[in-house]
Amino acid sequence: MPDYKEVFENNKRWLEKKKESDVSFFEKLAKDQHPDYLYIGCSDSRVTAEEIMGAEPGEVFIHRNVANLVNSTDLNVMSVMEYAVKYLKVKHIVVCGHYNCGGVKAAMQPKDMGILNPWLRNIRDVYRLHKDELNSIADEHQRYDRLVELNVQEQCVNVIKMACVQQGYVANGYPTVHGWVFDLRSGKIIDLKLDFNKILKGIQEIYNLTDTKIT
Ligand code: CO
Repeated sequence: MPDYKEVFENNKRWLEKKKESDVSFFEKLAKDQHPDYLYIGCSDSRVTAEEIMGAEPGEVFIHRNVANLVNSTDLNVMSVMEYAVKYLKVKHIVVCGHYNCGGVKAAMQPKDMGILNPWLRNIRDVYRLHKDELNSIADEHQRYDRLVELNVQEQCVNVIKMACVQQGYVANGYPTVHGWVFDLRSGKIIDLKLDFNKILKGIQEIYNLTDTKIT
């Protein structure tokens, strides 16, 4: 880890390198942004969104919080989504969880975590929703991995419940929603291959916020 002063030296080296490859790099960067991706991931320092995706500045709109949660009462994530879908018109929304997630692990322990309780409640609700499957997994580590995956899946469902996502999809055919897990042990991004259309159709009975029934 670089010490405090080194950060600025690193920054100088980085900007010089960028200018070397493209003299007008920062001129273009300052003009506007047109990211195709909205990435919602965990705050964990080991899951560096742009780096694992090989993305450049301007390519990914990013929101991170503990355990990559999409909660309808969280004004922060709701504002990020509304802006990304309505104004930036992103084509893809990714929810990216990761194995060895401290937030998910904390939620698996049935104890009082103080101020973290309402946040972890979201993950504990995912556990309750998938209790039968999770409890049938004898190995604790495998159960932990599976909860990470199911948490991503349920957060994707929460994204698809949003009016702006449904209305954008009906009008333009995008955004579509993807669930990923980053495997810290191998460095791989695993696409959970969630069926966006099927989820959308499945939740429409209760959460349809468009004038159109998706076929
Ligand atoms: Co995490």
